[in-house]
Parts: sequence; C-alpha cells; structure tokens
Amino acid sequence: MNLKRFRIGVFASGRGSNLQAIIDAIEQGELNCEIAFVLSNNSNSGALEIARSKNIPAIHLSEKKYHKENFELSLIDVLENYKPDLIVLAGYMKLVPSMVIERFRNKIINIHPALLPKYGGKGMFGINVHRAVFESNEKESGVTVHVVNEKYDEGKILYQEKIDITDCNSPEEIAQKVLKVEHRVYPQVIQKIVDGKISLVD
Ligand code: GAR
Repeated sequence: MNLKRFRIGVFASGRGSNLQAIIDAIEQGELNCEIAFVLSNNSNSGALEIARSKNIPAIHLSEKKYHKENFELSLIDVLENYKPDLIVLAGYMKLVPSMVIERFRNKIINIHPALLPKYGGKGMFGINVHRAVFESNEKESGVTVHVVNEKYDEGKILYQEKIDITDCNSPEEIAQKVLKVEHRVYPQVIQKIVDGKISLVD
C-alpha cells in the first residue's frame, strides 16, 4: 500500500527554532508528515539555513523584488508546484497576501507567542509581543495556534496554552519561557490536524 504522506510547507522569517522543533518531531517519529519546502522573505534567515542542511527545498521569496501582483502570483506558483496539504507559519513576519488566503482558505496556520486576542495585530510579533505583555504586568502569557485569514492574528483559534510568567523579570525571559512551550505545542497541533482531530473550518 502506498499511502501519500501529509505535506506541509513552512513559512519563516527568522532564526527558525520552531521549524527546527517540527523537524525534530518528524525525525523522532512524533509528527507524521514531510516538509515539502521552507519559504522565507529573508535570504539570511536561519530557517533557510536549517532547510538547506536537511535537503529540504529552501525558497527565498521577497516582495521587495517584485511588483505586488507578481509577488503574489510567484507565491501561488510555489504553492501550486509543491502542493502542500497545510501551510505552517513559523515566525513568518509578513501578512500573507489575500490572493493566497483565498486560494488556500483554511489550509494555513500560525503560532503566536501570546494569548490571542490579546497582544495580537499589526506590529505584534516576536519580542514586541513580550514587551507589551511585560509592560502590562500580566501574570500569565501563553501560546496560540490559529487559522490564518486576511487579518493579522484573527482566524479561528485551534489551541491555546497558558503560561505562568510571574517568575519572569524581562520581556526576554518571557520570550524564552514561551518559546519552549511553542516548540512542544506546534508539532502536537500539526499532528492533530494530520490525524483529522482538529478542524480548521469555522
Ligand atoms: C516565535 O516566538 C513565534 O511565535 C513568533 O516569532 C518567533 C519566531 O521564532 N511569531 C510571531 O510573533 C508571529 N506574530 P523562531 O524563528 O525561532 O521560530
């Protein structure tokens, strides 16, 4: 029997530690899928380096080099070519163009390092999120995995986990604590999607 493996495409902009956690989970047999490609807007991203070191197609696609429409069409070309079953944003700091969302509706997920709907929206990424949480004297933060739609951080919430941050004395300490949980949670949520235990449809 030749069962087709579930294929994910990973979009990432930065160091790629969530990508690495996904790769580790696949290699340890905890996540049953294959990474069809890694795409980044940033040619220097750690994520592309990690992909190359694992012989995963590593694609650099930056809107800076294109007119808006050509960029969107190129992105769709990549997706039509690699045909992922799911697109996984792992620290992708760009808004996914609406043309792509329409074409891949309910097939794109994101991980956000806070408890949405709080601390989400434009500009709320990476350390900015943790700084806002820290400055608001929150006692807890967390991790949210959600479906991506046309608006930043507003799609259906698939999973949330709270994290006590009363022992954290800086945004960086919160970031570190939250990231550790992200690395455990994201592969687990993806596996549930692969198994059909979580539905992305509203
Ligand atoms: C992660 O904390 C992720 O949740 C966050 O960026 C970091 C990327 O780290 N994403 C966002 O803030 C999206 N709004 P990584 O490159 O090491 O995976």
